[in-house]
This record gives sequence, structure tokens and C-alpha cells, in this order.
Amino acid sequence: FIRKRLVIGNWKMHGTSVQNAALLSSLGDYAGSAELAVCVPFPYLAQASQSLEGSAISWGAQDVSAHAQGAYTGEVSAAMLADFACRWVLVGHSERRAYHGETDALVADKTQAAIGAGLTPVVCIGETLAEREAGRLQEVMLRQLDQVLALGGDALSRIVLAYEPVWAIGTGQSATPELAQEAHAFIRAQLERAGQPQVRVLYGGSVNAANAASLFEMPDIDGALVGGASLQAQEFLRIAAS
Ligand code: G3H
Repeated sequence: FIRKRLVIGNWKMHGTSVQNAALLSSLGDYAGSAELAVCVPFPYLAQASQSLEGSAISWGAQDVSAHAQGAYTGEVSAAMLADFACRWVLVGHSERRAYHGETDALVADKTQAAIGAGLTPVVCIGETLAEREAGRLQEVMLRQLDQVLALGGDALSRIVLAYEPVWAIGTGQSATPELAQEAHAFIRAQLERAGQPQVRVLYGGSVNAANAASLFEMPDIDGALVGGASLQAQEFLRIAAS
């Protein structure tokens, strides 16, 4: 299978319209071979779409409601994201799981809602340090994957997975390529069992221009989900070029 390299920036809750304008214009003339995207805060989707339209960079959001529409104050539907020409949406990021109580069941519902609107959900999984040290890495990944894999082949063929060990996020301490590859190989085995070996699996957790190339050399790492380093255009472009 050819799994095209994919690098997605997750801006998290950063930025102002002035800062974004500079960042987006530096990214706009990207012409590399990896697929490149940014997931921006909801209020800046219009700005991202206007700035990036016609460029090689696609855009998306960082969360989506599981509901199609209705009395859900503060939520944003998949159809609304599609209305802003989003290609991607992050689902089940560890910060959503940890700070907003997102369950595996909700993550699967959000995944389905995104697919229903024609978006590509980037489903995030990953263990905490305590879980890893207790030898529960595989158990945690299986639990997080179970209800997503149960959506079936048609849905699975439309998703991207991101492996983000919680202990590596925002810490400056990326997983080593070998540790990351070990987790990615395990995830790939589950995808193979589900008949979907072509699904891309991104690594996330303190990826930067200095460590991206060695991560991307690993056979089951298909790209990166980049937090902090995606806020600096040159750093983010160097990761894409790795
Ligand atoms: O979604 C991105 C990840 O949470 C990684 O964030 O690159 O700042 O460690 P980071």
C-alpha cells in the first residue's frame, strides 16, 4: 500500500487573527510532497479557509459534536465544519478525553458524525505514563480502538488514526522512533485484522524539525500530528519536508 505522508498541525487554543494571518500566509505557498493540513480553533475556520483556499494545504477543526443539529448549546456540528470546507477534524484528542470527559463511546459517535458529513476524522489514542509503566499500553490502545474499529470497514477506510502518548504531548520529550514504531505496529496489526491496513497512523507528541525525520523512517509511522511546532511556519514546513 502507498500511504501518503500526512502532517497535520493542531493549533490547540492558540492564536489571534493577526498572528494567524502571518502564519497562514507563510504556509500558503507550500508545494512539498507530503499532505499538509492545519486544525484551527473554530472562530478562525473562516480565516483559514479564505487564506488557504487554492493552496496545497487543507484545514480542519479540533473537535466536532456527535449530534447532527439541535439544542446543544456551544457545540459545532460536522455539517457546519463541512460548510467551511474542512477536510479534517480531530476526534478524541487526549486533552478532550482528560478535560472534557470524552469516552470511547462518544469518540466513536463523533467519528461517525464526521464521516457522515464527508470529513476525515483523525481519531487520537494513546496511553498515560502511569498506564505505560503499569504495562497496560496494549490494553489501553485496544480499549480506545474497540468501538472505532466496530464502525466497520466502510467507515474505517475514511479515517486517520493518531497515536499520541500522553506523556510525550507538550513535554518536549518525544517517544523514541523505536517506542513509537512498537505502538504503531500494534495499531497496524489491529487495522490489518479489520481489513484496513491502508489507514494512515500519525505519531503525535513533541514532534519538531529535529526529530521528525527519524520518526518518519519507521515503517508504520505515516506522518505526524504536530502541536507546538505547528505554530511556527518554518518549523512546521521543515517537519513536512522531513
Ligand atoms: O495534537 C497534537 C499533540 O497533542 C502534540 O502536541 O506537539 O505540542 O507535543 P505537541
